Amino acid sequence: MTEQISLQDTDIVYVDENNGVDDSGNGTRDNPYKTAVYALQVKGGNIKILIQKSPEEGYKDISGAAFKKAKKRVEDLANKAKKEKLIYEKEQKKLEEAKSIILTQDPTLSPASKIKIHDAITNRGKRVKVSGWVHRLRTQGKDMKFIILRDGTGYLQCILTGRLCHTYDALTLSLESTITMYGVITELPPGKMAPDNHELLADYWEVNHKAPGADDAFTNKLNAEADPSVLYEQRHLVIRGETASAVLKVRSRILKAFRDHFDSKGFTEITPPCLVQTQVEGGSTLFELNYYGEKAYLTQSSQLYLETCLPSVGDVYCISESYRAEKSHTRRHLSEYSHLEAEMAFISFEDLLDELEDLICDTIDRVLSHKLTRDLVYQLHPDFKPPERPFMRLDYKDAIQYLKDHDIKKEDGSFFEFGDDIPEAPERAMTDQINRPIFLCRFPAEIKSFYMSRCKDDHRVTESVDVLVPGVGEIVGGSMRISDMQELLEGYKREGIDPAPYYWYTDQRKYGTTEHGGFGLGIERFLAWLLHRDTVKECCLYPRFMGRCLP
Ligand code: 4AD
Repeated sequence: MTEQISLQDTDIVYVDENNGVDDSGNGTRDNPYKTAVYALQVKGGNIKILIQKSPEEGYKDISGAAFKKAKKRVEDLANKAKKEKLIYEKEQKKLEEAKSIILTQDPTLSPASKIKIHDAITNRGKRVKVSGWVHRLRTQGKDMKFIILRDGTGYLQCILTGRLCHTYDALTLSLESTITMYGVITELPPGKMAPDNHELLADYWEVNHKAPGADDAFTNKLNAEADPSVLYEQRHLVIRGETASAVLKVRSRILKAFRDHFDSKGFTEITPPCLVQTQVEGGSTLFELNYYGEKAYLTQSSQLYLETCLPSVGDVYCISESYRAEKSHTRRHLSEYSHLEAEMAFISFEDLLDELEDLICDTIDRVLSHKLTRDLVYQLHPDFKPPERPFMRLDYKDAIQYLKDHDIKKEDGSFFEFGDDIPEAPERAMTDQINRPIFLCRFPAEIKSFYMSRCKDDHRVTESVDVLVPGVGEIVGGSMRISDMQELLEGYKREGIDPAPYYWYTDQRKYGTTEHGGFGLGIERFLAWLLHRDTVKECCLYPRFMGRCLP
């Protein structure tokens, strides 16, 4: 059987189980199919099949049993397809019929008042109208649908019964569609469960916009096992989830609590620029840009500007974005983060530490005193315990000793010595062991920024503090600032900074200088601690880090 055979002339079809291709094959010896079933489906039952199981065996007549088995399989597949077609046609007919069911509001009912879900409890028993997104959807039999409606202020179980779930919209409703429900909210009897222990029994409802189903359905875009890169890419959809939206809500309340704290102490809020021509925290993490032909940067910290406001409006704070060109992926570094910074005049280093402790404790108290936020905090972090005052105060030199005593070493196996920067991993190890917030104080001048003042009793170290918390590490960096002009000029020199563009900063030491200090707190790190999140990337809307600037 080596001659070329044309299928038009004969009924011989070639099947090569190893090298054949069903879809693009044509059953010739040059282009054989892969399976006998496919050959029968395409060519019909009246053919002769030559099958090759391996090149060594060559083509042989298919055995009678194999031919019969393949024919049976073809019949089964045809029956299955027929059944599916019937079901599909029945569904289509049902959907067509459903289009003729038009819902109207009962004019004898009292008018519905428009409410948001967080007002549902106080509106129980009245006829209301609530709009939102279909968060969850469950059909029970022909005559009942349970919808969990979400409007950003809460979740509300809504029930559609009878005709209300026979309409075309009801039959084709998909997750994340926007709908409006009309009906009365009643408390649930014991034994039944729903958000806020009540449900809306609809008397009328309408679709505002239907989200796609099938392949483009919301659930096909995201699922629990999705890779982290998919979750960052689809974060605009992820934030509709219960966890991510809870984090965003707590974040909003935290920002309010910080503002309320500072307001209660008479601070003025400042909104400083992000485009700058000076550095604050060293050149290595600056994002540089072309500013009308001049070199400029995205700000690393607004500290220097806050200092200039002290003689103008007194103690100040800001909540502004800071930028760091961090070149590695860690759980606590972002390229853009929300930075809470404060600056106070006529204070000592002790005053600075007291103010920091008060800020952290008072803000947490404020957040937990708001019932809805407290519930969200404990939903995300059931074991959270507010920190106890006073915070542990540990000098850098004692931390170096702690690391030695607890056998926490450098990567090369040697011990940390005075003057070494303590990197993230050993700092975390120490903080997690101590397991409470720590004020790590008095760092050597050489490993800190140019503006930090030195301790009067030991000129090797600065009046500086990092606040370390378990699970995250450093959440705050602060210090007293050099108030003497000559000393500041030496600081610029030590760090190789050209003082010229800092003339306005230096002027603070010329026109009425004073002892002053302040700090910067990373909002995302604070949230990662409070809400027990694995990474700061979960604690902001759209995280920016190396390799990601979308959405
Ligand atoms: O310790 P840092 O670099 O201090 C300053 O910028 C001071 N000028 C602040 C001041 O005194 N006004 O940063 C302060 C805090 C850190 O403790 C950390 O919480 C946060 O900012 N932070 C970051 N958060 C997320 N991603 C990054 N890449 C961060 N870099 C700093």
